[in-house]
Amino acid sequence: MANFIPDDTIAEIRHAVDIAEVISETVLLRKAGKNLVGLCPFHAEKTPSFSVSPEKQIFHCFGCGSGGDVFGFVMKRDGVSFVEAVRALAQRSGIAIPERELNPDDQRRLKERDSLFEINRLALEFFCDALRRDPAGPAALGYLSRREISSRAVEAFQLGYAPKGWDTLLGFMAKRRIAPAMVEKAGLAVPRKDRSGYYDRFRDRLMFPICDESGRVVGFGGRVMDDSTPKYLNSPETPIYTKRRVLYGLQRAKDRCRALGSAYIVEGYLDLISLHQAGIDNTVATLGTALTPDHIRLLTRYAARMVLVYDSDDAGIRSAQRCVELFWKEHADFRRGDVFREDQADTRILVLPEGHDPDSFVRRHGAEAFQGLASAAPGMVSFLAETAVKRHGLSTEGRIRVVGELMGPLSAVNDPVAQAFYVQQLAERLDVSEAVIREGLARRRPPAAQSAADAPARPPGGSAGVERFERRIVTMMLQFPEMIPEILERRILECFTDGPMKRLAADIIAGGHRAGTPVADLLSRVEDAGRRQQLAEIAMSDEVWEAKGCRTLLNRFVESRRKKAVRRSLQQEIEAAEKGRNEAEVMRLLSEKQKLAARRVGPRAPVAPER
Ligand code: GTP
Ligand code: MN
Repeated sequence: MANFIPDDTIAEIRHAVDIAEVISETVLLRKAGKNLVGLCPFHAEKTPSFSVSPEKQIFHCFGCGSGGDVFGFVMKRDGVSFVEAVRALAQRSGIAIPERELNPDDQRRLKERDSLFEINRLALEFFCDALRRDPAGPAALGYLSRREISSRAVEAFQLGYAPKGWDTLLGFMAKRRIAPAMVEKAGLAVPRKDRSGYYDRFRDRLMFPICDESGRVVGFGGRVMDDSTPKYLNSPETPIYTKRRVLYGLQRAKDRCRALGSAYIVEGYLDLISLHQAGIDNTVATLGTALTPDHIRLLTRYAARMVLVYDSDDAGIRSAQRCVELFWKEHADFRRGDVFREDQADTRILVLPEGHDPDSFVRRHGAEAFQGLASAAPGMVSFLAETAVKRHGLSTEGRIRVVGELMGPLSAVNDPVAQAFYVQQLAERLDVSEAVIREGLARRRPPAAQSAADAPARPPGGSAGVERFERRIVTMMLQFPEMIPEILERRILECFTDGPMKRLAADIIAGGHRAGTPVADLLSRVEDAGRRQQLAEIAMSDEVWEAKGCRTLLNRFVESRRKKAVRRSLQQEIEAAEKGRNEAEVMRLLSEKQKLAARRVGPRAPVAPER
């Protein structure tokens, strides 16, 4: 990557931006010693394991293992390449990057994304304009006012109108020299069956732009203004629009979500606009698709409390159940050793009264009534229990089914205290003994234990004594580079046996890491993302190093290597003696081997005293 943009430009950009400032735009950070901590934006968690070091200009999550410098953060947050991340940060710090430094592939991809954003932006302009100027505009505005959408909301949500006709948008784009194939790529045109050309995807529809978090238009939804079908038409997925990652309205809602610590999740465009209009502006919408783990992760950056709002119909209830399972699964998959607590994972399910959706409810009963319902809405376990009771009844058979249905979500609760609380609640509700439920749970293995196998890769060099030594030495090289010359001179790295650690050490050397330069500078010279993360993790710990202690560590490492070599040759001698059936020699060598084993050294364990 360093080939495309000169190293000194990268360093210049890094020094111009502050990682803490960049990250705090997406993560709520608080001070903890020298570092800042917050909830990791890359996995769902309720207790902060995400640290940022302003001093080292790096971040690391102790929960999911992600970590790196400011570019790594932007790459991961926005799902962009290194070059795109550098460009984005260069732009905000006003540093110019010569275009020709990009590699051709990146350049093409970047150009294409840029043009798709531009086409969507132009389309937005076109639709907004048509709402005011098209002959059918007044009818569209009439529809909006019948739906009680204020002109302020029309403005704020940039609503528009896609005119009748098959190529009004295509014509508008053609005048701006935009090829129909690109309009298709943006999801706004469809190729004719006979391949003779393209036609507009959206015709005679009310248009809702869908924006990403930073407010760029990534797609549209279009609603008919009568009873024809389909009622809504949405942009297809494109290189800039991934449905499972986009929440409608997030761009407008995120600040309020953060300020209030809570968010409402609704399904529809008009539900969202209606709630915003009523002042409930910490609301986002999933646009009819099921809530995804990506949605949840995106939202937990802004709010710890969530209220999932559904219509009263069966579809709403089914969907709520799916979401509950999803939430539990999310906890089980991503939180692992993390502790789940009732007060931290405050997610409520609000099913509106018969015949209402959020839009109709808030217009009929007002914001306070809506918020009242929300605060009385049940948490997820209670909701699941209640809907199961409704379905199966409280007969003996029914209660058995209810218990069966709740086993999955209950066993996903990692915190024993919270789990006991839910068990007690459920037992009371069903009038069964808690023991019955506990027994059912005991028969299931908690999902957390099953998923341990696919836990994020731990850094290498975990357990064995020698490997722990090697990890300590790499840590020292990162945090106290003053020792690197001595390490090289004593050829310490040649004795490394842990391959991954050896590679990290080589990265540190190759990156020219030395005293007085931030670790972040080194990270951008490491090509491999996995190794960048490991280096960030190792660099994150705060240890005090001084030359004397370092030298002791190196001496002990060398000594342990020497002993290992002695052991190895001893083993060979033993094997030779066994072959020659020299019993006395075998005994002598074995006792020597035992003595040696008793003096085994480790980086922390004190050396056993000589006898
Ligand atoms: P209004 O009738 O305008 O109030 O719509 P709504 O927002 O109440 O929509 P509804 O509850 O019927 O559906 C919720 C969401 O599902 C909508 O906002 C759309 O995003 C999506 N949706 C509804 N109908 C369709 C459809 O026919 N096609 C597609 N693709 N999505 C739909
Ligand atoms: Mn509706």
